[in-house]
Amino acid sequence: MKNKTIKVLALCLTMMPMAGMAQQGLKDAIGKYCLIGAAINQWQSDGQVPEADAVMDKHFNCAVAENCMKPETLAPAEGLFDFRVADKFVSYCQQHNLKVLGHCLVWHSQAPDWWFTNGYAASPASKEVLKERLIKHIKTVVGHYKGQVHGWDVVNEAIMDDGSFRKSHYYNLLGEEFIEIAFRTAHEADPDAELYYNDYSMAQPKKREAVCRLVKNLKAKGLRIDGVGMQSHNGLDYPDLKEYEKSIDAFAACGVKVMITELDVNVLPNPQGFGGADIAQNFELQQKYNPYPNGLPAAKQKELDARWLALFNLYYKHRSQISRINIWGVSDGGSWLNGWPIKGRTNYPLLFDRQYKAKPVVDEIIKIYK
Ligand code: XIL
Repeated sequence: MKNKTIKVLALCLTMMPMAGMAQQGLKDAIGKYCLIGAAINQWQSDGQVPEADAVMDKHFNCAVAENCMKPETLAPAEGLFDFRVADKFVSYCQQHNLKVLGHCLVWHSQAPDWWFTNGYAASPASKEVLKERLIKHIKTVVGHYKGQVHGWDVVNEAIMDDGSFRKSHYYNLLGEEFIEIAFRTAHEADPDAELYYNDYSMAQPKKREAVCRLVKNLKAKGLRIDGVGMQSHNGLDYPDLKEYEKSIDAFAACGVKVMITELDVNVLPNPQGFGGADIAQNFELQQKYNPYPNGLPAAKQKELDARWLALFNLYYKHRSQISRINIWGVSDGGSWLNGWPIKGRTNYPLLFDRQYKAKPVVDEIIKIYK
């Protein structure tokens, strides 16, 4: 080969994007319109996963703690607050230029047992005691991170798919007022932090209506609520994107920001009776529910890519309403969907593979926003 030909070939090769390697980060494209982030687990925020650091640096401008800011971690025993892991998460975010999102202050799951009982006795806590604990928790936690957290999921999953309030301990003892108490206390503790209501199955019409009612009621009472988080634990064929889109429009019409807060796409078959994202659901492992332990067949991968693109095309269309898109995890290997609602499966629900390599669809998503 002549020297000149070799030079031209070499030039072409350096200009060609390498297969599977996103040249730009998600934040370079999507960041022009909204925040784009990921949930990170304790190993990552403790700095033990350099591959995850590289992904965070290149692709994301905000992060959520997958578990360590939940009440069961922050308040393990009455009168005791343990901020060690969460403080590390916050300094990790500061080091990596990630806005910190706080998840979550009030939730029926992952709350410490002592919270709902009297001391070590089995008797349930009284209304007054629960109210006092709720206020103390929010004041202490939001106060501890004052000025460092961009926004808080103040209440998580308080509404059922049929639009009724979840009959949680909070609701049973305090009625719907527990939501107002939570938003009021959070605002008092950090007047500059944004405050959100967050839930799953937000494409359900009755749930959508109930969330809109809740937002309007809070606003009518003069309380601050900045946004609604649509968790978006999606699958290949759910939710119905038309209903999902209606919810984006409906929440935006209530005068709040819309956020996609816990995005992932499940590719595994769901057991009968499965639905939503209540973490209490669990089913027995059977081989038929774990069909791809050694890798995703090309046809499934294609289906999955198409689903990611359908979702991001929708988010792009609604870019003036959506203020944040957050993926629930960094790499497939770390996703909670390998362990829920069935333990021990191999799932492929995120944008980075088990080696923390961007899947080819990442480049396609970036193209949507260019
Ligand atoms: C999940 C975490 O990803 C898991 O690691 C944990 O074991 C259970 O909780 N809705 C939420 C999140 O609001 O906090 C949940 O996170 C997933 C469902």
